[in-house]
Amino acid sequence: MDPNTSGLMQRLAEAGQSHLLQFWNDLSPEEQADMTLDLQGMDLQEINGFFKNAMETSSNSKHEKMDARMEPVPREVLGSVTRDRECLKNWEAAGLHCISQSKVAALLLAGGQGTRLGLSYPKGMYDVGLPSHKTLFQIQAERILKLQQLAEQKHKIKCCIPWYIMTSGRTMESTKEFFSRHNYFGLDKNNVVFFQQGMLPAMDYNGKIILESKGKLSMAPDGNGGLYRALGNQGITDDMQRRGIEYIHVYCVDNILVKVADPAFVGFCVQKEADCGAKVVEKTNPTEAVGVVCKVDGRYQVVEYSEITLATAEKRSADGRLMFNAGNVANHYFSFSFLRDVVQKHEPRLQHHVAQKKIPYVDVQGRLIKPDKPNGIKMEKFVFDIFQFAKTFVVYEVLREDEFSPLKNADTQEGKDTPTTARHALMSLHHRWVLNAGGHFIDENGRRVPAIPSLKDGTDLPIKCEISPLVSYGGEGLDELVKGREFHPTLMIDEHGVHELVKNGV
Ligand code: UTP
Repeated sequence: MDPNTSGLMQRLAEAGQSHLLQFWNDLSPEEQADMTLDLQGMDLQEINGFFKNAMETSSNSKHEKMDARMEPVPREVLGSVTRDRECLKNWEAAGLHCISQSKVAALLLAGGQGTRLGLSYPKGMYDVGLPSHKTLFQIQAERILKLQQLAEQKHKIKCCIPWYIMTSGRTMESTKEFFSRHNYFGLDKNNVVFFQQGMLPAMDYNGKIILESKGKLSMAPDGNGGLYRALGNQGITDDMQRRGIEYIHVYCVDNILVKVADPAFVGFCVQKEADCGAKVVEKTNPTEAVGVVCKVDGRYQVVEYSEITLATAEKRSADGRLMFNAGNVANHYFSFSFLRDVVQKHEPRLQHHVAQKKIPYVDVQGRLIKPDKPNGIKMEKFVFDIFQFAKTFVVYEVLREDEFSPLKNADTQEGKDTPTTARHALMSLHHRWVLNAGGHFIDENGRRVPAIPSLKDGTDLPIKCEISPLVSYGGEGLDELVKGREFHPTLMIDEHGVHELVKNGV
């Protein structure tokens, strides 16, 4: 269709985006139809408004450090797995009770593009090379299955933890297809609900939308905070209400150690009558590039490491720990009523953040250019942008080695957050579970392997050991399987039993 007669040309001109049609006559009729469809589905004035606000906020915040306005998390809103050990059983029991009532849902943020890992498919489908070769999706699904089972056994009642999975335009179809191909990993497919977050165009610094090819706009998901808009416009909060969900655990796809719907975290938040909770790990190094949860002007938020001075990052409390040590790991609890209020009332007040990126584009001759320095921006909201609206906010501190090992980057030597570090983190946790349950490991000469692997002769690799989530959610129930026994790695414990994959070096 002619863009003139369809009114498209005029809409673009009004929005200052006429350049998008500069290659119109080079496009095939199909390409023209696709482009028309893409543009018709877009509110260009709204997008221009997002750009203006995001750029303004970003340039204001560049000049201002947060230091003077920040206060650390007060002890009374903090629950800690190390400092409040005596409460843990109680929190866990409270959370498990809520799960048994089918009041708890898990919500997975899986709409990212995984650009650093360099994948052409959703990150949840990634196999980090565990002995079982399970993917991140499968590990998480099995944790949900196990938790349902634990709640059912304890409370003698059938229950379910609905699993809401946020995807994006780029990951939706392949994610759904993957789950269907794997029979939802044993979960009831009616309790796995996929929904799609929004996409926004990448823009140059003048607010012009970037073309990634002659007939295609450069589009990216609108950040994990795109969650709140998607929850409303895809009918997900309605679905939660229909199911009687009261508590929601929101987490990222890339953390291989994530305790999905963690009963202790949920129980702690429920007992505190919180509307919003953040799971954190202790930041121990002042220069670690992690955002910290704290109060700014009396309201909770995440302050990025770039927003504070080194002096503030280095400040210590009386106990010797860093004062701003609540490292954010994008792992949150929301009460349903809070989430619904955010979706219905607060979401439009959230501003987009600006991420400067190298964005491939076509030049005026129509040639594809891959820039070597940032040439434009992507606009994103963050999942934690809503902390400011919470009336009762709590923080739950967990051990990094037990609960947080994200997969961000491709494998390189000494790399951070890679498939290798994720695989090692999981095996080392499971190794500790076996030792704590009274099991031992022996080497090919029949000698006991020291519990803490030594660094000499380069054997700082973890013992190869993997325990299926179908057997143990958090280290429980292993005594009867391992107590007093000796194992040769690789040890695998799954629903079929205890296996040593390589015995005596064979
Ligand atoms: P990251 O910000 O680490 O992004 O996402 P990413 O997509 O995994 O990787 P890069 O930056 O492209 O390399 C943290 C979590 O937020 C989700 C991701 O799927 C991941 O679980 N996310 C991110 C979304 O759900 N939507 C988005 O728009 C962005």
